[in-house]
Amino acid sequence: MDIFAHRGVSARYPENTIAAFVAASKLPIVGIELDVHLTADRELVVIHDETIDRTSNGSGYVKDYTLQELRAFDFGSWFSPEFEGERIPTLGDILELFAGTNHRINIELKTDIFPYNGIEALVIKEVAAYQMTERVILSSFNHESIQIVSQRAPYIEKAALFAEILVDFYGYTAQIPANAIHVSLATAFRKSVKEALNEGAVVRVYTVNDVEYAKQLQQLGVQAIFTDDPEKIVSALAD
Ligand code: G3P
Ligand code: CA
Repeated sequence: MDIFAHRGVSARYPENTIAAFVAASKLPIVGIELDVHLTADRELVVIHDETIDRTSNGSGYVKDYTLQELRAFDFGSWFSPEFEGERIPTLGDILELFAGTNHRINIELKTDIFPYNGIEALVIKEVAAYQMTERVILSSFNHESIQIVSQRAPYIEKAALFAEILVDFYGYTAQIPANAIHVSLATAFRKSVKEALNEGAVVRVYTVNDVEYAKQLQQLGVQAIFTDDPEKIVSALAD
């Protein structure tokens, strides 16, 4: 079973920062997951929430700031004083960091609240600029975004994110189309996910920080899990 560091090594470092991804880049794991939003000057930035309130010393929507304005805020101190001065990364910063590794990069397009029109094309262009087309997985809870990626760059691996339990994950995902199904831990043990696995679906599960659940998901045959604490999960699965 593959392990992805969720928002970097976010259990030990401030999520979606260079520090969290540098730590992940040194681990024997398959990949990382990150979230992207669009700034007022149409730069791709790596942050989970629509606002900077929770993970910085500022407040307000990402979409209302330019990149230069966002760079002035501290994205580390909220987690620990040790990380004071961490800046918001761009997608390019993270792709550059992983240019010399073999990690897969799951880029989640956070278009489910604000559509960030055109973000799909910007991400496709950025990934191509770093020659990482074959290493990325583009995912979103907004399946319209996945459909746009599919139309513009059918060669890129895509995953549909689900918070709900669908009757037919496999059939629905094929229609978008997407290559993989990313489901929540609460959904992962449902009948419909087992059926999707039986039909040959690639299933990845978020967010798994409990060792026992990780072991059960491995037994179930899911392709991968996203975890905030990859070191803990890797060592437990090796036992
Ligand atoms: O991509 C998996 C997972 O990150 C989706 O949920 O809220 O952590 O972005 P969230
Ligand atoms: Ca995410």
